[in-house]
Amino acid sequence: MANLKPLVIGNWKMNLDFVEAVHLGQQIGVLLKNRPSEHTEIVVAPPFVDLRSVASIVDSERIPIAVAAQHVNAHENGAHTGEVSTSMLKRLGVTWVLVGHSERRALYAMDDAVVALTLRAAVRSGLKAVLCVGEALEVREDGDQDEWVRHQLRSALDGLDERFTEQITVAYEPIWAIGTGLTADAEQVRAMMTHVRTVLATVKLPDARVLYGGSVNADNAASLVAEGRADGFLVGGASLKAESFLAIIQACDDCYDLKR
Ligand code: PGA
Repeated sequence: MANLKPLVIGNWKMNLDFVEAVHLGQQIGVLLKNRPSEHTEIVVAPPFVDLRSVASIVDSERIPIAVAAQHVNAHENGAHTGEVSTSMLKRLGVTWVLVGHSERRALYAMDDAVVALTLRAAVRSGLKAVLCVGEALEVREDGDQDEWVRHQLRSALDGLDERFTEQITVAYEPIWAIGTGLTADAEQVRAMMTHVRTVLATVKLPDARVLYGGSVNADNAASLVAEGRADGFLVGGASLKAESFLAIIQACDDCYDLKR
């Protein structure tokens, strides 16, 4: 069954210590109490060291959001200094994980093979996985973005056991738009959403939600969701302030109302 609810994920990256993270979680909780999101599913992805604290306040204060990790190792345990496994995350109440964010791919040598293994480890453990894909500026300038994204999707998803398909979300994040203030315009987003959905249908994932990410903010969210036809967003910078994060969620909620 297709999940038509919009999804907004805040990727806090390497920002906020656990005190600051709890504070932001609580602020989000207060704003959601005043103005609940009616349709939009909300997830936040704090740094590893904040996960336990954020998961605890989400639980104790009944804040209607889920908690994601920004990365996970594909192995169960062992000699992987600095890494964290799926079972460790699950014990903390984490239910989602980002897989293959472009910063992990570019800065920490996460290649397509590791992305595919990690994705499998995540879904096998029961976590919901957000597979991140997207092209660099040179690829876009050469007009090769569709082929690039198709390759990333297929190398991660080909042959995935059908039992796990409902746990997968895709986030299209053009690298040139991440943290740069340069957003893909609604037409570029719409074209890529269509392309990603076409490729997903070929790997038996026709119903997966497809998010857009890259300099999403309170001002551009409405047009990216309405005209760009994204199923929601993966938000970096603008998720670090409760007000802008909630404005993005509200834009998704309003669009859902309009579409019905
Ligand atoms: P940004 O980051 O919103 O700050 O561009 C998005 C992301 O990297 O997930």
